[in-house]
Amino acid sequence: MNQKVHELLNSQINKEFYSAYLYLDFSNYFKAMGLDGFANWYMVQAQEERDHAMLFYQYLQNESMTVTLEAIAKPDKVFTCSMDVLKAGLEHEKYVTSLINEIYAAAYEVKDFRTMQFLDWFVKEQGEEETNANDMITKMELFGSDPRSLYMLNQELAARVYTAPSLVL
Ligand code: FEO
Repeated sequence: MNQKVHELLNSQINKEFYSAYLYLDFSNYFKAMGLDGFANWYMVQAQEERDHAMLFYQYLQNESMTVTLEAIAKPDKVFTCSMDVLKAGLEHEKYVTSLINEIYAAAYEVKDFRTMQFLDWFVKEQGEEETNANDMITKMELFGSDPRSLYMLNQELAARVYTAPSLVL
């Protein structure tokens, strides 16, 4: 495997674990606010991010490439309101999309078709992740200021259940 592609794939393990950590922090924020549904939604999100990390980990191992685990950064954002959290989520997903695109571009450059095929799932997934983050913001804009509507929205988000990723390596 090309060295740059290898480094980027290895680095993505860390980025995905950081994403899990970030969403766990979001979950923690909402739990403290008493919004259990939001807390659940981000808890499930954190679980998905751990899955993403493990898919990169597994892919490198399957390709007989070394995996180097780095320290996971501390989520250090301080939020003043729920909307700040949701917007930080969207910003983060856009950042992750840019990372996936960067790996894809590096793989494309060296005709690493297997890595490109592996990344196809993530390209699609990032589209969904950004849509979900956008939807959260829209719903909060529509319903966040009315306590009864916020209660209903919280109930809706409480129903999210974890499902394993459709990509199996
Ligand atoms: Fe692993 Fe939220 O993308």
